[in-house]
Amino acid sequence: MKTYRIAVIAGDGIGPEVVKEGMRVLKHAARQDGSFDFSFCEFPWGCDYYLKNGRMMPEDGMERLAGFDAILLGAVGDPRVPDHISLWDLLLKIRKGFDQYVNLRPVRLLKGAPCPLKGVEPGQIDMLFIRENSEGEYAGSGSWLFRDTPREVVLQNGVFSRHGCERIIRYAFETARERKQSLTSISKANALNYSMVFWDQIFGEVGREYPDVPTESLLVDAASMLMVKHPERFQVVVTSNLFGDILTDLGAAITGGMGIAAGANLNPERKYPSMFEPIHGSAPDIAGKGIANPLATAWTAGQMLSFLGYPQWEERIVNAIERVMEEGRVLTPDMGGRATTRQVGDALLACLA
Ligand code: NAD
Ligand code: IPM
Ligand code: MN
Repeated sequence: MKTYRIAVIAGDGIGPEVVKEGMRVLKHAARQDGSFDFSFCEFPWGCDYYLKNGRMMPEDGMERLAGFDAILLGAVGDPRVPDHISLWDLLLKIRKGFDQYVNLRPVRLLKGAPCPLKGVEPGQIDMLFIRENSEGEYAGSGSWLFRDTPREVVLQNGVFSRHGCERIIRYAFETARERKQSLTSISKANALNYSMVFWDQIFGEVGREYPDVPTESLLVDAASMLMVKHPERFQVVVTSNLFGDILTDLGAAITGGMGIAAGANLNPERKYPSMFEPIHGSAPDIAGKGIANPLATAWTAGQMLSFLGYPQWEERIVNAIERVMEEGRVLTPDMGGRATTRQVGDALLACLA
């Protein structure tokens, strides 16, 4: 039997609350399957750690994580610590340090999920967002000139390398080919006259290697409108780091909310561990109340199982999430219910059994 070693960083706010349920789902899948197991190693890193130690993780944090088969992360962010410090020293550090350049985010309307769009049925929204996760607007490159003077100028550079664009676009084409679906590239070359012109050019170049994959290229403003008005027209979607960040929150909003939106940060070459985290944040407004929706983290755990070689388990978890939502009796307040995180976790495990 294979035992996977999972590093768990519960993090801040609702992170620990939802991660607990994610771990239960993984353990439950292992027990039922019988062919694999998990051993968890929990790291108390995050903003509390920062307030005690002046850093988000120890100096050798990345080396300590490197040997694990995967990382499960809750959320990072606390009103007591500036976001650009907490996120850059933990979440973004791991994504970059482990070259997790693929951010895989399903935008799929499951059965029973509350959808704010009129007349849209499950099955009519089934997108897979592939967000570039290593560079672009998140390159961390910029400068602050003439600080605190009337001439103050701030630059934030978007970095788009041929290597970085080609590999994410190729990954997206491979995914679309495998799923026999179309691929939409979302960019903005009319205004971003360097980065997005380059992106579009590479999308065209790589696309010539995949004549069997139908493609479309959209401007990000039009794409956000179409995601709301005609979500059914999107299948596999590839886009830059910042556009992917924003559009997947929009995607979450049309498929049941932040409480159900899952995400995986993948290093497809498996040279480094991949990291699995729901796309929501630490939700300080509801943290500590025991009412965070654990379904996003459960689905994320499913994505981990899929990446480790058990895609059937992701499907089973998704089916169980659908049953919980269809029954509609045990849901957290964000989905209109009155249940606690733990009660939804219990209901989910019952449906998985
Ligand atoms: P957020 O996702 O934390 O919250 C947005 C809204 O969605 C809130 O009303 C919140 O209550 C709700 N929500 C989110 N997750 C939920 C869940 N599981 N169940 C029920 N409701 C849920 O976004 P924000 O408020 O913009 O950010 C809060 C902090 O989290 C900030 O510090 C931000 O930088 C950070 N953040 C971290 C991550 C991450 O670690 N991956 C992602 C996004 C934001
Ligand atoms: C996400 C988050 C992060 C991002 C933040 C917290 C840095 O919003 O995972 O979607 O922008 O990637
Ligand atoms: Mn985001």
